[in-house]
Amino acid sequence: MKAKTGKGTYDHLKKLATQVQHQAYAPYSKFHVGAALLTVKGNIYTGCNVENASFGLTSCAERNAIFRAIAEEGPDMKIEAIAVSVNSSKTFPPCGACRQVIAEFINKGKKGTTVIFDSPKGSVHRKLDKLLPDSFVWKK
Ligand code: THU
Repeated sequence: MKAKTGKGTYDHLKKLATQVQHQAYAPYSKFHVGAALLTVKGNIYTGCNVENASFGLTSCAERNAIFRAIAEEGPDMKIEAIAVSVNSSKTFPPCGACRQVIAEFINKGKKGTTVIFDSPKGSVHRKLDKLLPDSFVWKK
């Protein structure tokens, strides 16, 4: 989906994350999580969490959205912003594993990558490098 541009874009992402939350397969935790990301190219991709009876095989909403974006845009895909939404009033920032995967596709431009998540006081907007200051990087 091509993004609307301008002021409302992040609110639109939030809305899509909330919508896709309803598609989650979460019979074990009952946490229904949705994610919607905006790529630097201006496309939007969504994902939801998919759990498994063998709990370790569960896949988070954020990573599912990111892998979908890669499948559509290819390996140069970069994330401008990603919104996460959950069926709970708790603060729900992305888990550490998802932060590391977001870091792999960070927007290296001035704007960086913005992460939007729920808290009891409303949406929080954080730059990824603030959420994960020392991400692992591959250096030979
Ligand atoms: N979950 C996500 O989808 N994203 C996160 O960043 C953290 C956790 C999911 C995984 C599992 O289905 C449920 O939330 C409870 O951990």
